[in-house]
Amino acid sequence: MNVPYEDIAKLLLDLKEGVALTGAGVSAESGIDTFRSKDGLWKKYDPSVYASIEVFRKDPSKYWTIRGDFIRNYDEYHPNPGHFALAELENLGLVRSVITQNIDGLHTKAGSRKVIEIHGSLRETYCLKCEKEFIAPNIPEGLPPYCECGGVLKPNTVLFGEPLPPDALDGAYREAQECNVMLVIGTSAVVQPAASLPLIAKERKSTIIEINIEKTFPFADCCIQEKSGVALPKIVGAVKRLQ
Ligand code: OAD
Repeated sequence: MNVPYEDIAKLLLDLKEGVALTGAGVSAESGIDTFRSKDGLWKKYDPSVYASIEVFRKDPSKYWTIRGDFIRNYDEYHPNPGHFALAELENLGLVRSVITQNIDGLHTKAGSRKVIEIHGSLRETYCLKCEKEFIAPNIPEGLPPYCECGGVLKPNTVLFGEPLPPDALDGAYREAQECNVMLVIGTSAVVQPAASLPLIAKERKSTIIEINIEKTFPFADCCIQEKSGVALPKIVGAVKRLQ
């Protein structure tokens, strides 16, 4: 595929005010499972059982069975070239924020400063009884782990059936309304309200550029069918050549 990286770089340089919306695909090259790909997490585990707040309240061990290893090994996951390239686009003044559905903290680890985590973060875990906070990977043993007060621990992430953090949601809507370019990266865009953000941006005349190994958005102005860890560094390279 002949990707017009220089055209995309020109667009970002001309329009500025870029915003990135990311999903699990951006972290796939860091060794983190996506949800809906062939071997994805939700192909192995039913999210209505393993990621529902209703079930978590009755039996938190289900959630901890699929997420416990990740949380306890939190420090062992590292950003890939896609995360670093987005941080660089922010430094170059071309991407003003990253709205992410990911809970892995990798955008921040890569150096992105304005990261809006609309589904929360696995970094912070807290006791549902006394609200004591535990920072990953320093989480007590056990499936589920308990606080010394006897309360069960829950990561600060959004489960199905829970509202999104209001500040993050407000911020995400604002960014979608104000951007001139939205890079939609590695998301199947089936979970709301994240899936509506590119539509909001498009209604406000923003240009939508999708980066995904599969085309997802019929209304994107351009789709780069490529791994984000390959495509994003190429965009940065093209920007630097043009500057
Ligand atoms: P999905 O698993 O639904 O989609 C991942 C997307 O990434 C797919 O469109 C893949 O084609 C694409 N992809 C895979 N590898 C890629 C790569 N190297 N480069 C670029 N694209 C790649 O994940 P999300 O869309 O993030 O929410 O899922 C959204 C939400 O559903 C998650 O935040 C989570 C889940 O249920 C909650 O748990 C609340």
